[in-house]
Amino acid sequence: MLSRIVENTGHFMSTVSKAERKRYGQFFTNAATATFMASLFDLDMSGPSIDILDAGAGTGILCAALVQRLVDEGYTGRINVICYETDGRVLPLLEENMSFIARHRGVSYDIRRENYITSQPFAANQSLFGVQGETYDYVIGNPPYKKIPKEAEEAKAMQSVCHGSPNLYFLFMAMGVCNLRQGQELVYIIPRSWTSGAYFKKFRDYLLSNCVITDIHLFDSRDKVFDKDTVLQETIIVKVKKTMAAPESINMTTSSTSDFSDIRHYNAPYGTVVAKNRIVYLVTNDQESKVLNAIKTTSMRRCPG
Ligand SMILES: C[S@@+](CC[C@H](N)C(=O)[O-])C[C@H]1O[C@@H](n2cnc3c(N)ncnc32)[C@H](O)[C@@H]1O
Repeated sequence: MLSRIVENTGHFMSTVSKAERKRYGQFFTNAATATFMASLFDLDMSGPSIDILDAGAGTGILCAALVQRLVDEGYTGRINVICYETDGRVLPLLEENMSFIARHRGVSYDIRRENYITSQPFAANQSLFGVQGETYDYVIGNPPYKKIPKEAEEAKAMQSVCHGSPNLYFLFMAMGVCNLRQGQELVYIIPRSWTSGAYFKKFRDYLLSNCVITDIHLFDSRDKVFDKDTVLQETIIVKVKKTMAAPESINMTTSSTSDFSDIRHYNAPYGTVVAKNRIVYLVTNDQESKVLNAIKTTSMRRCPG
C-alpha cells in the first residue's frame, strides 16, 4: 500500500517545481521515515475504533503508514482518518491515495479541503483553548515549514503560543496537541528550532503544560531527510503523550540518514532533556548528559534560585 503512495508522490513531485512547493511549505516524507514515525506509537488495539488526524496531509503518506501498521498488527476495529490539505494541485492525488487505502483496508476517511488552523473553532476572544474542537487518538504530521507574518490569520488566531511572526510548523503542532485525546499520542517531524529560545517559549509552555515528551529522533545529516528536496533547518521527530505523568527517561535515537539503518538508542533521564525552565536539550549519549548536567550544576551554583 505504502509503495504505491510513494510512487504516486514521486510522480507528483516531478511535476511541480521546487520553488512552488517551497511556497506551500511542502516537503514530502519518504517511506522509511513515515514507517519509522508510525512505529513510535504505543497502539491500543483493544477499542472498537481509532481516529487518526493527519493535518497538512500532502499525498497521505503518513496516515497511510499508520494505517498499514494497524492493519499489519491485526487491528480489526474501525479506522477513521481525517486529513486536512489546502493545495489544490495535490488534493486529487490525496483523494486517489485515500480511496485506494479505503478500498484495500476498509478505512473511512474525510479530506477537509480547508486551512487546518483557521477552520478550528476558536472562542470569541480568539483563545485557542476556550473551545475544544474534534479530538483524535493518534495525530501524525509533517506540517508546513513556513514563517508567516504576525498579522496572518493563523498567527492572530493562535496568539497564545506566538511571539512575533510565527512559523506554521509549531502552530500545527500546538493545534495537534489541542486536538489530541487525553492519554493519547502525537508524532511530528519538525525543525528542532523550537527546543530553545525566547521566540518559542510560549509554544514550549503550552506543549509541556499539556504533554510529556517520550521519544526524540535526530538525524546526523540535515540534507538527507527529505528525498529529492532540501530543507535547510535540521529536522527531528518527536513523540509526545497527552498526560502530565512524565516517564523516567526519554527514548533518544539517532541515525545518519533517513533510511534508519544505523539507528542508535539512548535512554536520557527526563529531567536532563526537559529542564525545569522548559528548554529541551537534545542529548544523545551519556557523555553529553554528563557535560550538560555539569554545566547546569555550575550555573545553579553561580546563580542560586
Ligand atoms: C511539509 S508538507 C507535508 C506533506 C505530507 N504530510 C508528508 O509528510 O509528505 C505540508 C503540507 O501541508 C499543506 N498545508 C500548508 N498549509 C496548510 C494549511 N493551513 N492547512 C492545511 N494544509 C496545509 C501543504 O500544502 C503541504 O502539502
